[in-house]
Amino acid sequence: MRPRDLVGRRALVTGAASGIGLAVAEELRARGAHVVPSDVAGPALHEASLRLESVGVAADLSNREDVERLIAEVGDVDILVNNAGLQHVSPIEEFDPGMWDRLLAVMLTAPFLLTRAMVSGMYARGWGRVVNVASVHGLVASPYKSAYVTAKHGVLGLTKTVALEAAARCPQVTVNAICPSYVRTPLVEKQIAAQARVHGIPEDEVVSRILLTQNAVKRLIEPSEVAKSVAYLCQEESWSVTGAALTMDAGWLAH
Ligand SMILES: NC(=O)c1ccc[n+]([C@@H]2O[C@H](COP(=O)([O-])OP(=O)(O)OC[C@H]3O[C@@H](n4cnc5c(N)ncnc54)[C@H](O)[C@@H]3O)[C@@H](O)[C@H]2O)c1
Repeated sequence: MRPRDLVGRRALVTGAASGIGLAVAEELRARGAHVVPSDVAGPALHEASLRLESVGVAADLSNREDVERLIAEVGDVDILVNNAGLQHVSPIEEFDPGMWDRLLAVMLTAPFLLTRAMVSGMYARGWGRVVNVASVHGLVASPYKSAYVTAKHGVLGLTKTVALEAAARCPQVTVNAICPSYVRTPLVEKQIAAQARVHGIPEDEVVSRILLTQNAVKRLIEPSEVAKSVAYLCQEESWSVTGAALTMDAGWLAH
């Protein structure tokens, strides 16, 4: 039985139609929050909205006008979870500049725009939580993921900067990042074929030989486990955790 510690709170979760975002949205809702899910338009967002008994807002976060419309439609929230993301695996010399722009727009510029728009309301109401779903790739690099690694390192810079600004304005507004290693979601499943291609190995060897080589514990993380860490950061008594990069990396960085 979960605590109902988020009753009366309103949350926006981006990328809420799948994987970690859907698990986060369900966890926050189970704790009493009213959750507005956002994602690209499609049946997955419709399905998530039904599951959350909410009205989802479709927005392509790579498109600035869509981000502005999302901000206008959602209005003020107490909890902002910047989770939407995507991966593109390619050596730098073949890296598609359009994909570079897309990854940076979705995983760095959209969190900036959403945070920029939503912190004022948090300051005014005296409470708020911004949680950026970053990655262990916000702290270390892996080859062939230049845009992803750059965006995730960038979002940690954004997290720390806004945490300092928020602490000065309203100490009950915290800003944090979560840095998981590999989580069992469609984003990881889609990478397996691409990783097999660039490394020249069979797909069934990618998880053990490529994805989990850095993990001390050789296990994929479950989305519900990440969702519980987001809920922890949203708790009242987590006020002292701000500007943090909370690693859930199965020991990756302990080496
Ligand atoms: N799965 C992992 O191993 C892992 C590890 C560390 C961090 N992360 C991060 O967790 C977050 C969620 O990833 P996931 O693994 O649940 O992936 P996922 O593919 O299951 O979900 C990502 C969601 O983001 C949405 N999205 C993608 N592009 C978008 C756009 N332009 N506009 C709006 N929404 C868009 C997708 O539609 C999808 O619903 C991402 O930021 C990812 O970088 C994932």
